[in-house]
Amino acid sequence: MALHKIPGCSGGLVDDTYASAALRSDAPRFKLPVAGAPARDAFELVADELMLDGNARMNLATFCTTWEEKEVRRLMDICISKNMIDKDEYPQTAEIEMRCVHMLADLWHAPESSTTMGCSTTGSSEAAMLSGLAMKRRWYRKRQQQGKSCDRPNLITGPVQICWHKFCRYWDVELREIPFEPGRYTSTPEEVIKRCDENTIGVVSTLGTTFTLQFEPVRQIAAALDKLESERGLDIPLHVDGASGGFLAPFLEPELEWDFRLPRVHSINSSGHKFGLAPLGVGWVVWRCAEDLPEDLIFHVNYLGGDMPTFALNFSRPGGQIVAQYYNFLRYGFEGYRKIQQTCREGARRFADKLRGMGIFDIISAGGPGEVPGVCWKLRPNVKVNFTLYDLADRLRTRGWLVPAYSLPENCQDVVIQRILVRHGVSMDLLAKLAGDLECAVKYFAAHPAGKVTEKEGTAFHH
Ligand SMILES: Cc1ncc(COP(=O)(O)O)c(C=O)c1O
Repeated sequence: MALHKIPGCSGGLVDDTYASAALRSDAPRFKLPVAGAPARDAFELVADELMLDGNARMNLATFCTTWEEKEVRRLMDICISKNMIDKDEYPQTAEIEMRCVHMLADLWHAPESSTTMGCSTTGSSEAAMLSGLAMKRRWYRKRQQQGKSCDRPNLITGPVQICWHKFCRYWDVELREIPFEPGRYTSTPEEVIKRCDENTIGVVSTLGTTFTLQFEPVRQIAAALDKLESERGLDIPLHVDGASGGFLAPFLEPELEWDFRLPRVHSINSSGHKFGLAPLGVGWVVWRCAEDLPEDLIFHVNYLGGDMPTFALNFSRPGGQIVAQYYNFLRYGFEGYRKIQQTCREGARRFADKLRGMGIFDIISAGGPGEVPGVCWKLRPNVKVNFTLYDLADRLRTRGWLVPAYSLPENCQDVVIQRILVRHGVSMDLLAKLAGDLECAVKYFAAHPAGKVTEKEGTAFHH
């Protein structure tokens, strides 16, 4: 008997997801479909789209968390419909946020960590906007009181992540970014001081630059700013962008003075979703003391019940990431974080050794002291190979590895480098497999000269 005539069978066939109306044509792209689809069919359609994304665990371009425990997923699930801004309605989520702020303030040696001002954000970018705004407002207030002009604020930074470019452009602040010099990929105290004047709202120093993973010399920059104040009376605050380093230095280099131990440091930001090990969507900013966060930037709202102070760019935001951050603090404690970050550092060191052994790469950073766990390398000058790092990135992609190659910014544009981040979950075994695939790729190019991927094509996917 024909299948469709068997009782109960035809319905089953018609019900099949891939034979359903929703999947018998291309997915809607430009118009809302008139009718909906059964949940299972819509789910498969969307899930199949996502198959074409890269594998996040093999994305070694990102600093962000790509592995989490199932308990984190459970907590995120509990929080899925809680809006963290509804502090009166969800007082425990608000309380947990404040516990995280105080724990971080303590970790970063704030003088009065139990009363320090700080908040969660969606990431370091929002934290940069908030800390930048606080610096701008403090400077503005002071200039107003002195009866001086307030129309030409500037911010001094080393080579910074794009969020600081955004801050300056969105809030009309002149960015004085210290350019790279061949072989020097961070700012120096001398370069900072050269650019300071009475319109400088602050200096940003990065603990773990995005380009080469190196920590900037925060202590030396702070000392130079102290000297500048004693000699010329310019009192310029220092902000530390510890997007990665804020969750690394306390565990890996506790003796390194980069934080509120330096009186010059007025505020610090970090990404909970990077080496803080929380899932994507949480950052932190902490001020040394209440005076560093001008009161008129804080809004008080009463329509959620109670008097709620808020300092944030967004209003509604999910609370799960904050809760997951607190879970991580309890789950790992200081010792757990230290062990995880040290394992990442060890993984980076071993990977760098393998690259060195190949004899064709120069290692720029290998996740050692003063560096984020990761490896940054470039082709040795004058080495005889018939591929570029863009070709290598492209070849590694055929195995699923996402390892970006990119050129450095202004002044060093001709230096092309490649970088991996070694995060929680990037195991020794995965790193050994990547090293093996990289060696195979180099051998492959020896037999089949590369088609020379251009910079434009090659950087299309870098983070
Ligand atoms: C030094 C630095 N600052 C800021 C950011 C932006 O952080 P987020 O992605 O959390 O907004 C990054 C991101 O990589 C970074 O490396």
